[in-house]
Amino acid sequence: MPFLRVISGLSKSGFYYKPRNLLNWTACFGSRKLTQIRHASSAVSPGHRISAITTNNDSVSVSWTDGSTADFHHIWLRDHCRCPQCYNSTTHQKEFNIVDIPLDIKPFDVSLNGPNSLSIKWPDSHETDFDAEWLKQNCYGKQGAFAVTRQAEQKQKHFLWDKNSIETNLPCPLQYGKITSDDDELNTLFFRIVKYGFAFVEDTPTTVDAVENVSKLLGGFVKETHYGKMWEFSNEVMEHADTAYTSDYLRGHVDSTYFSHPAGLQLLHCVGHEGTGGLNLLVDGFFAAEKLRQEDKASFEILSSTIARFHYKDEDLHLKAHGPIIEIDPFDGSLSQIRFNNYDMDIMDWLKYDEVTQFYKALRAYSAITCAPENQFWFKLVPGLLLIMGNWRVLHGRSSFTGRRSMQGCYINGDDFFGKYRAKVLALKKT
Ligand SMILES: [Fe+2]
Ligand SMILES: [Zn+2]
Repeated sequence: MPFLRVISGLSKSGFYYKPRNLLNWTACFGSRKLTQIRHASSAVSPGHRISAITTNNDSVSVSWTDGSTADFHHIWLRDHCRCPQCYNSTTHQKEFNIVDIPLDIKPFDVSLNGPNSLSIKWPDSHETDFDAEWLKQNCYGKQGAFAVTRQAEQKQKHFLWDKNSIETNLPCPLQYGKITSDDDELNTLFFRIVKYGFAFVEDTPTTVDAVENVSKLLGGFVKETHYGKMWEFSNEVMEHADTAYTSDYLRGHVDSTYFSHPAGLQLLHCVGHEGTGGLNLLVDGFFAAEKLRQEDKASFEILSSTIARFHYKDEDLHLKAHGPIIEIDPFDGSLSQIRFNNYDMDIMDWLKYDEVTQFYKALRAYSAITCAPENQFWFKLVPGLLLIMGNWRVLHGRSSFTGRRSMQGCYINGDDFFGKYRAKVLALKKT
């Protein structure tokens, strides 16, 4: 039972936010959130033990009791020594210069200290002990837990959605009073933003301080830009050279593609609208990218390998930045960032002559997926309902509107938000 309801008579499929009196709370995800989080974060089961080791010419092969194996280069093993002399466990920083480790270093002796520990003696008498579980968690290459589990972890933590699936599965909004006072509720907000690409917080005071409060909880800092730190704007004054400051229809896009690091999150609070229209639109950019990968692999590869450039221009500022429209995580091949904004695309002079038609074909194909009604989630923000969007994944837009519409909002750096998110995942794994 979705918490939004269809408003009949709208020309486009539209939803208004549904106040809590008609919510089916038992259907909400909220009550079982932390259990889900803990299960999702434990991709490699703890307690791996080593069954055998073999020393090779340039590596050590390790076999675990679950039947898995991995090879570790000698220089890698020496570089990853975690003894207090080599590694500061307070700062989590290495203490030595890599130049001081010979490229062809070989252990003097390799032995098992029982099933839980691998012991290495080096020619200079230095000794390194590796925990069996640590080695299992950090092995690399094709055999690595990293390569095997990272993609599965990514898939597990993201719920990719289209119109039907998000309207069916969207959890109830979290309460402003709870996320600001209860760590578990705040954790749930973090995990929801990562899972769905966005989240709602209701009963938010209609003050800019309240939006800033949530921002600080999510990122520690607000990302200040040429739009300012915290925004309060309406369509009555065109404050910046951007269509967002008009009352026109806005197609789905992500923001700040003209920054080297586009904003990671955007918070939006509609604190008043006296008029018609102004429905809010979200599209899952990751879902659209996966759909493109399935339906037109060549176009997916063009958009994920071609570096496109974006710009912002007013009298005092001309920003330019570049990146692929669909960015792939170089470590595991999962989707990491969408940089799709046809409004802000710069003059397209970066393509070779014979690449132009194929690039346009790919761009049109992706845009068509994001514009298809079956992939679009429409609703209307009302005062009190704060929207938090993952700007590296979810496209946003709105329908045209009449009357005065007042918005508040701000950006948060992706590094700040995901840095806090990773720390929360680690903390929950330990509980
Ligand atoms: Fe925008
Ligand atoms: Zn050491």
